[in-house]
Amino acid sequence: MNGPILVTGGTGTLGRAVVRRLLDDGRTVRLLSRRTRPADDTAPYEWATGDIRTGAGLDRAVAGTDTIVHCATTGGRGDVEGTRRLIEAARGQGGTPHLVYISIVGIDTIPFRYYRAKLAAERLIEASGLPWTVLRTTQFHDLIAMVTDAQRRLPVTLSLSGVRLQPVEVREVADRLAGLAAGEPAGHVPDMGGPEVRTLTDLARACLAAAGRRRRVVPLWLPGRTLRAVRRGDILTPERAVGRGTFEDFLAARGGGAAASGAGPSQRKQG
Ligand SMILES: NC(=O)c1ccc[n+]([C@@H]2O[C@H](COP(=O)([O-])OP(=O)(O)OC[C@H]3O[C@@H](n4cnc5c(N)ncnc54)[C@H](OP(=O)(O)O)[C@@H]3O)[C@@H](O)[C@H]2O)c1
Repeated sequence: MNGPILVTGGTGTLGRAVVRRLLDDGRTVRLLSRRTRPADDTAPYEWATGDIRTGAGLDRAVAGTDTIVHCATTGGRGDVEGTRRLIEAARGQGGTPHLVYISIVGIDTIPFRYYRAKLAAERLIEASGLPWTVLRTTQFHDLIAMVTDAQRRLPVTLSLSGVRLQPVEVREVADRLAGLAAGEPAGHVPDMGGPEVRTLTDLARACLAAAGRRRRVVPLWLPGRTLRAVRRGDILTPERAVGRGTFEDFLAARGGGAAASGAGPSQRKQG
C-alpha cells in the first residue's frame, strides 16, 4: 500500500480518532471534509475539501488512494446518495481501492430512518465491485453523553423506558477500523460492542453524577416499531462485548464538566 488512506468524515468524532490512529501507525492520511483546512491546522495529513452529497471535490479526494475509510455521515438519507457518489468517484479513478465502512448493530431489524439509510449504504458497498469491509458497532460513549448533555436546560433529564444500550469507546472502534484498513478486504466482519449492557436511564444518571448534577431522570415509555425493536435488544450484541472501556472510564477521561457547563458537542448525532 503506497497511496494515502482517505478518511471521509475525518473531522468527526470517529473520523478524528481514525486519522490519529493511522498517523500513529505511520500511514499517509488524507481526510475529506466539507470545510477548507483551518489556517492553524499543521497536522501531518493531507486535507481534501469535498461533499459526498453533491460529489464536489470527490475525484480529487479519492485520487491515488488504495484504501478509503468511510466515516462521513450526513445524518440521514443523504448517506445513501453520498455513498453512491463516493463509490462512483473511487471507481472512476481507475483503481480498486479497499472501501472500509462503519455501520451500526441492529440496522437489519430496527426500522429507524437513519438505520435504513445505513443499511442501504451497506448494500451499495456490497454491490460496488470494489473490495470492501463493513464493521458494525454499537453506540459510541460520546453519543450517549451528548443526549444527556443536550438536555441541560430542562428541569429534568428525559430517558427512554426499557431501552438498554451497550456503548463502546470510539478510540477502540478507530483502532479496529485502522486494523481492518491495513488488512485484506473481509466483507462483513463480526460486530463490535462495548463491555456492558445498561439501561439508558442508568447511563443518563452516570453522566449527571460525573458532572456533579443532582437532577431527576424521567424514563418515558414511547410506542412505535422502532422502539419496540430497540427494547427487544436488537441494538445490542452481548455475545460481541469486545470493547474494554466502560462508560465511567469515558466520563472520567473527558472530565466531569461537560453536562454542567454546557460544553458538550453541538452536532446532531444519530447512531
Ligand atoms: N455515533 C455513534 O454512536 C455511532 C455508532 C456506530 C456507528 N456510527 C457511524 O460512525 C460514523 C461516524 O459517526 P460520528 O458520530 O463520528 O459522526 P460525526 O461526528 O457527526 O461526524 C460526521 C462527519 O461527516 C462529515 N460530513 C457530514 N456531511 C458531509 C458531507 N455532505 N460530505 C462530506 N463529509 C460530510 C463531517 O465533516 P465536516 O463537517 O467537516 O464536513 C464529519 O466529519 C457514521 O457513519 C455513523 O453512522 C456512529
